[in-house]
Amino acid sequence: MSEVHPFALTALRHPTVSTLVDGHRALLAELLDGLGSPLHVVLPEVFEENIAVLRQAFAETGADVEILFAKKANKADCFVRSAAAAGIGVDVASAAELVKALAGGVPGHRIGISGPEKDDTLHSLGVQHDCLVAVDSVSELRRLAATARVAHRQVRVLLRARTGSQPGSRFGMAAAERDAAVDQCLELIEHVSLRGFSFHLNGYSPEERAAAANEMIGYCLDAKRRGAQAADLVNIGGGLPMRYVDPRLWDEFLQHNEPAHYHGTKTSRGLHFYPYGGLPTTQAAHMIMNHPVDGDESLSAKAVRTGIRFIVEPGRSLLDQAGFTVFRVQQVEDRRDTDGYAIATVAGNSLSLCEQWFNTDYLPDPILLSAQSVADEEFPACVAGSTCLENDMVTWRKIGFARPVRPGDHLVYLNTAGYHSDFLESRFHDTALPLKAVLRLGHGSPRWRLDGI
Ligand SMILES: Cc1ncc(COP(=O)(O)O)c(C=O)c1O
Repeated sequence: MSEVHPFALTALRHPTVSTLVDGHRALLAELLDGLGSPLHVVLPEVFEENIAVLRQAFAETGADVEILFAKKANKADCFVRSAAAAGIGVDVASAAELVKALAGGVPGHRIGISGPEKDDTLHSLGVQHDCLVAVDSVSELRRLAATARVAHRQVRVLLRARTGSQPGSRFGMAAAERDAAVDQCLELIEHVSLRGFSFHLNGYSPEERAAAANEMIGYCLDAKRRGAQAADLVNIGGGLPMRYVDPRLWDEFLQHNEPAHYHGTKTSRGLHFYPYGGLPTTQAAHMIMNHPVDGDESLSAKAVRTGIRFIVEPGRSLLDQAGFTVFRVQQVEDRRDTDGYAIATVAGNSLSLCEQWFNTDYLPDPILLSAQSVADEEFPACVAGSTCLENDMVTWRKIGFARPVRPGDHLVYLNTAGYHSDFLESRFHDTALPLKAVLRLGHGSPRWRLDGI
């Protein structure tokens, strides 16, 4: 039997989350009973707080920054409504997302459309609602201009350019195509208004994002010289980091991490993780805008000097702490005598808590809420989904629970609103998709309703 000493990777908690998880267990249990497992609890109040804090952080840098919430990070309608109420925009990448954003009260002029080679339906809706469309290629630009011509309108566009640091990206235009696209915009001026440039970066480096934004400023100034007078917007995309666990704990985890800490062969395929102990979002916002780009001049100072405004499209980071996911434990197979750990099978599957697309694991420890009182005793266990797939592991990593996990217990995975809940959700085995309970704590007792417009 292998010796297992699970590493405790305690998740950070917003006070609202603590109040709910520690002080309102009966309500959570009732919701899970009534609405099914897993249940995503979404917290628009926290989302609204994140908007205010991020706005303030960008304002402090002196730059003019418009925030669009990247809707893809969570499908809950409540977040779109909150975005509308807070006066921020929404970034969408499909006709369905655009319709949801409009239905949630976001005006078309505050909606950005991103995504590669968008279809004609999305173009057409974008044209009709005066959305800002980020165009990925000259051929897409021609299609979009044709749609605008038929509608007798002028469409606002950004050109998505490839960055110097990631020239092999499949998104955006390299230099020659970018130049040709600017020429096309000028030729098609009656139906296309070039407003600036955008880019896509993989990763979370503030320095790399600032350098890419600086490249885009150059493209804007060049386009203006060529006659595109309104090209003064740089969309810096999403990718603002956020913090799930204490950074010291995270460093320690990385030092001690080894294959024996996981069920089966997970690590033999090579595990790479989201940087769970990364920078807080507001610090990253400051770092991007304060980054020196021309000698000593910061990105924000250069933007102010040259009349450039920014758009930022955070998804994950605006949802920091704005939701958690509760699973009911269905069965526990105690293999401690043979394998050194147990497998707790929950009602639900791993596509409802997913890092599966990236072949990795959602690492912060879930919280165990026990149905009966059980004496403390370290209980290493992985968490499995209740489908017939060997790979359906909700948590591959062995978690050091402080007491035995029993059927009927609840596991609460914290901070799941950004990509960790409905990104890949599946109706596998004909099961229903998990529901979302929108919870507001307000000043008194929590109030809940089902999500939906
Ligand atoms: C164009 C665009 N905007 C915004 C985002 C959101 O990024 P994040 O959720 O990391 O902030 C993405 C993510 O893929 C994106 O592709």
